[in-house]
Amino acid sequence: MAMNGNSSHAQAFHRTSMGISPPQQGSFASMMAHQRQDSQNIPTSVSPTSPSQLPRARAVSIPGAPKSSVPRLLTPFDLGEIRILLLENVSQGAVDGLRQQGYQVDFHKGSWSEDELCEKIGQYNAIGIRSKTKLTAKVFRRAHKLLVVGCFCIGTNQVDLDAAAKAGVAVFNSPFANSRSVAELVIGEMICLSRQLLDRGLEMRNGEWNKVSKGCFEVRGKTLGIVGYGHIGSQLSVLAESMGMRVIYHDVLPLMPLGMASQTDSLEQLLNQADFVSLHVPELPETRNMMGTKQFQQMKKGAYLLNNARGTVIDIPALITALESGHVGGAAVDVYPREPAGNGKDLFVSSMNGWEDQLRKCPNVILTPHIGGSTEEAQRMIGLEVSNALIRYINYGSSLGAVNFPEVDLRVITEADSRVIRICYVHQNQPGSLRAINEILAPYNVDKQHTDSHKDIAYLMADISGVDDNDIRNIYERISKTENNILTRLLS
Ligand SMILES: NC(=O)c1ccc[n+]([C@@H]2O[C@H](COP(=O)([O-])OP(=O)(O)OC[C@H]3O[C@@H](n4cnc5c(N)ncnc54)[C@H](O)[C@@H]3O)[C@@H](O)[C@H]2O)c1
Repeated sequence: MAMNGNSSHAQAFHRTSMGISPPQQGSFASMMAHQRQDSQNIPTSVSPTSPSQLPRARAVSIPGAPKSSVPRLLTPFDLGEIRILLLENVSQGAVDGLRQQGYQVDFHKGSWSEDELCEKIGQYNAIGIRSKTKLTAKVFRRAHKLLVVGCFCIGTNQVDLDAAAKAGVAVFNSPFANSRSVAELVIGEMICLSRQLLDRGLEMRNGEWNKVSKGCFEVRGKTLGIVGYGHIGSQLSVLAESMGMRVIYHDVLPLMPLGMASQTDSLEQLLNQADFVSLHVPELPETRNMMGTKQFQQMKKGAYLLNNARGTVIDIPALITALESGHVGGAAVDVYPREPAGNGKDLFVSSMNGWEDQLRKCPNVILTPHIGGSTEEAQRMIGLEVSNALIRYINYGSSLGAVNFPEVDLRVITEADSRVIRICYVHQNQPGSLRAINEILAPYNVDKQHTDSHKDIAYLMADISGVDDNDIRNIYERISKTENNILTRLLS
């Protein structure tokens, strides 16, 4: 859509709580300039004066596709103006992908302190972090331009999610990019346990030669019991079957089995049959200590237990007793109720959980420092997944996959859709919000609209067609002045 004759793509946003007034006059383009100058004394880019300085218009090219079905990429008004701060050495693929969008990316290897963030966060529209950078309510109060946070990791504990939502900032993470890495580790651990590989290896390191076959088995033909048949459990199921194992699983949901696997009616049924029990459930009140003394007794004598899920899922003192008695033939443990914050010597000791020294002495036990998902492939996948989520949200407004935000999306605006504007309206989840919006949009052609809420926050996306510059100004000003506005953005 042409706006002020010099841009085919546009984005404007206005956040009520940050005290930035909507612009009062001029074209949509000058509205953007006004809004930028309003904020934080950040240098604004020079207005385009020649065609080579104009923002690039991009389109996906699908050979042979009719124009009516080719998705139009919605991009910010001025590509140079989207500034992204990437901390903690996130993957280079993510950095490249974001730069390819034309965003201005500032990349830093380390994390930043709260003071440093408070000082500089006001310059950025997006931030990417891993687990060490803490995004507190204080940081969000200074984040006047921030639209979105990307956690290039699994967890989001380092972010004050409620404070982010209240500021209209969506937070994305990558919970499943490392599923395959975990599943492969479990396969390796099962073989190591059934061949007592770690004990033999340790003996050799101490100069001892101890060639034994008693109590050592192939995994072929054995039964693997998977507890939690989600992303990891189901991947593991396929890998284990390809090695000739029989797979059974227990899940709170009735789930379609993959391959020849079958679901058991209860955890007890699974424990009674399995030669290997591998846990892949989330950390929930119901899964806390789900493997305790009673459950270890329900396992077959000599069966192995593997926990690559969460540390709270097993009662470790009960596991130690079961290992010492020989009822459990070995265990692989990757996760613990309390884990050290960083790497270092003498950290996995009994001052942490109280039982480390005892667990270390048990026979046929593999102890690993929460490395189930730690592979280069997983890091690359996380980089790709989170950077794509940031791009989808910035360019199209899609909040699918956000952890603190209503999940809303609309089908694409195509190249054939001219004079279409997309409204992205984050607002307080209060009665009357939609009536106010519908009154504003009533004179226009609303092509599509979707709204959802999450706790106190609601998010509406709407595509309006047949609008001109004046309409856009009118819509933008009126929506951003609504009582429940948190953040209004326009994309085109
Ligand atoms: N070791 C690591 O480095 C590492 C890496 C990634 C994930 N994880 C952990 O692995 C676990 C599984 O991850 P995922 O991605 O497969 O999760 P997921 O959400 O895809 O699957 C979890 C499954 O567990 C089932 N479930 C929930 N409560 C249950 C219960 N009480 N009994 C039986 N089944 C139950 C769910 O229905 C679901 O099918 C999580 O705890 C995750 O944090 C660990």
